[in-house]
Amino acid sequence: MATLRSARRLPLAVAAAGAAALGLFAPAAGADVRYEPGAPGIGDPYFPYLGNGGYDVTHYHLKTAYDPGTDELTGTTTIKATATQNLSRFNLDFYKMNVRSVSVNGRRASYDRTGERELEITPPKGLRKRSAFTVTVRYDGVPEVLSGPIIFDLPYGFVPTRDGATVMGEPNGASTWFPANDHPRDKALVTLETTVPRGLKAIGNGRLVKQWTAHGKDTFLWREDRPMATYLVTNSIGRFNVSTTTTPKGVPQLDAVDPDIASDPDALSTPRHTTRVTDELAGYFGDYPFTSTGSIVENDNVPPLNLEYALETQTRPTYQSPPVERGVAHEMGHQWFGDSVSVRDWKDVWLNEGFAKWVEWYWAEKHGGQSAQLSFEQSYENPPPIQPDRPPFWDVVLADPTRDQLFHRAIYFRGAMTLQALRHKIGDGPFLRLVRTWVAEKRYGNGSTGEFEALAERISGRDLDAFFKVWLHSPGKPADW
Ligand code: TRP
Ligand code: ZN
Repeated sequence: MATLRSARRLPLAVAAAGAAALGLFAPAAGADVRYEPGAPGIGDPYFPYLGNGGYDVTHYHLKTAYDPGTDELTGTTTIKATATQNLSRFNLDFYKMNVRSVSVNGRRASYDRTGERELEITPPKGLRKRSAFTVTVRYDGVPEVLSGPIIFDLPYGFVPTRDGATVMGEPNGASTWFPANDHPRDKALVTLETTVPRGLKAIGNGRLVKQWTAHGKDTFLWREDRPMATYLVTNSIGRFNVSTTTTPKGVPQLDAVDPDIASDPDALSTPRHTTRVTDELAGYFGDYPFTSTGSIVENDNVPPLNLEYALETQTRPTYQSPPVERGVAHEMGHQWFGDSVSVRDWKDVWLNEGFAKWVEWYWAEKHGGQSAQLSFEQSYENPPPIQPDRPPFWDVVLADPTRDQLFHRAIYFRGAMTLQALRHKIGDGPFLRLVRTWVAEKRYGNGSTGEFEALAERISGRDLDAFFKVWLHSPGKPADW
């Protein structure tokens, strides 16, 4: 196999010279090829076991069936990937679920659970560097709901609701319900094929390709055709009123709202706000990065769940309660900042939340509200209150906030302040050019704090070391910049 693959890359004339000639260029099949295990983590210092090394996922097909009566999820995940080294074995992230079988390229593979969040897979034979391979994992179980200091002890992951389930994967919750290379550094296309009891719906990312009924159950097939980080996958299950439209700029839109709150004034205006924000932000930051838009409006900020948050699930944010317009601006802002351009390491998360908060300020400025500069000044004088068990606002170092403070208010507000202070320092024109260049150059990829700093210097033509040192790399309230 290895010889054949090498032969295919040889110039035609050489390949035509026949098998004898090939011996000069390629080693005998398998003879001195070394295969090594892929790393069990992708190299993110805050999450040593998130993501994995040795391969790159290109596509996930997530076939699941959910039973809201028992919370049981039964699934088959098919992953297409490319080896980035000669692999003797490799890991997927998968938290606690029962694995029933694993195959690689259609052949049964052995597997092991190392710890509770890794699935270690050994294919019957090694996988050559640069070869494409397919992994199929069949599994079932009740996904464990995560909660902890990262997200203020609120539940996240695959979370049962009164009428189904909601999915909020950031930062490490995707692998509670499907096996994955669960890190934004490895983006892939995603197809969701979700089966639910009759009368319920499943809302995913991207476009609804088709839906059908069989054996008294409904299945929904969704496809997202732009690369996506695993934490941005959604699979909201429940009762939904669905409406569709197309934005004036031509982006297909699908909105789903829980019927219990369908007459809530904010729920009623969410589709309209989404249309306007999608197109208008494209005017500011560059084309909308995806091929569909919309919203999922749930009714989960009620006892016993009390889910207060929204998540920027790709193409279609998930709101746990009806959002106001600035909430839509925040989550849709993330489609550029977070979804299209994603963090390289989780410590870069201020690039997501600082931008999304700044977009809220900018939206207000553009719509007769207060200027972003006034929002800056207000936050600078009176930073938002912080819970007693959290570090004080000005103590958080944006570029390295520690894992448990990834979503500290300072990430949002000091992040937005940093951007507004930069805008003020380098001027509106250069700042917007910086932002547009950032989203264009990093589209569908990853960006780090260091890369953002370098681009800011390149676009502005200024030395910004002192500025970034004060705003991003030092604790304390900035005084001079
Ligand atoms: N990114 C979310 C926001 O828009 C916050 C968030 C992070 C979140 N992790 C989450 C929300 C998990 C719900 C669940 O600010
Ligand atoms: Zn956000």
